Amino acid sequence: MKKLIWANFKLNMSTRKEHEAYNEQIASYLSTHSESVETVFFPQIAQLGILHEQYSDITYWAQTLANKVSWAFTGELSITTIKDLGINWVMIGHSERRQYYWETDESVHEKLVLALDHDMKIILCVGETLDQRKNWQTLDILSSQLNIALQWLDSSKIDIAYEPVWAIGTGLTPTVQDIAEAHLHIRNMIKNTESRILYGGSSNDTNAQEFSEIPHVNGFLVGWAALDPNKFGKMITILAG
Ligand code: PGA
Repeated sequence: MKKLIWANFKLNMSTRKEHEAYNEQIASYLSTHSESVETVFFPQIAQLGILHEQYSDITYWAQTLANKVSWAFTGELSITTIKDLGINWVMIGHSERRQYYWETDESVHEKLVLALDHDMKIILCVGETLDQRKNWQTLDILSSQLNIALQWLDSSKIDIAYEPVWAIGTGLTPTVQDIAEAHLHIRNMIKNTESRILYGGSSNDTNAQEFSEIPHVNGFLVGWAALDPNKFGKMITILAG
C-alpha cells in the first residue's frame, strides 16, 4: 500500500505568492518520492481552481463541501463547483468543521453519499475529544462516528484520518500504544484492506518516524508542520523510508 501524506493548510497560505514560494521548496521532495508517497494539499477553497490549473503536477483537494448540490446556502461550496474546477477529491468531517460549523455524523454521512455519487476520492476524519479520552470512550466514539457516517456505504472507496481532537494544533499527541489501538480498531471496523488510515494531530518531522512504524498507520494528515515546506518535505522523506 502506497503511503499517503496530506497537508491541510486550513485558513493559512492565503496568497498565490505564498504558494509559489512554498511550491518551489517542496518540488524536489515531491519529485524524489512520488513513486512511494502520495502527497496531497488542501488549500483554501477559493484558491482551488487557480492552484489546480497553475500547478498541474500537484494534487489539490477540497477541505469540505456542502451536503446539497444546490440550495439556498449562502457561503457554501457545491460539489458541482468542485468538480467543474477539475478537483475530484474532498475531505469530509474534519473536527474543525464539526466544532465550528456544527457538522454532525449525520451531515457527514450525507456528504459522503453525495461525494460517492459523484465519484470523488474521499477522506473522512474521525477522533475523540479530551473528555471522551479521559472517560475511556475513545473506541466507542470511533465506532459510533464510523457507524453513522459509513452506514450502507462502500468504505473501501474512503480513506480515514484518525485525528484526536485534543491533539490537533496543540503539540500534544497520544502514545504509540494509543495510536496503534485506535488504528487497529478503525481497520477492523471498516472491514476492508484498501482504505488507508492516516494519523493526524501534531504530527511533525520529529515524531513522524516513530508514528510511521505503528501498524495500520498508512501516513499523516498534517496541519502546522505542513506550513513549513522543509519540515513537511522531511515527513515525506521519512514516509518514503
Ligand atoms: P495539526 O493539524 O497537525 O496542526 O495538529 C492536523 C489537522 O487538523 O488536520
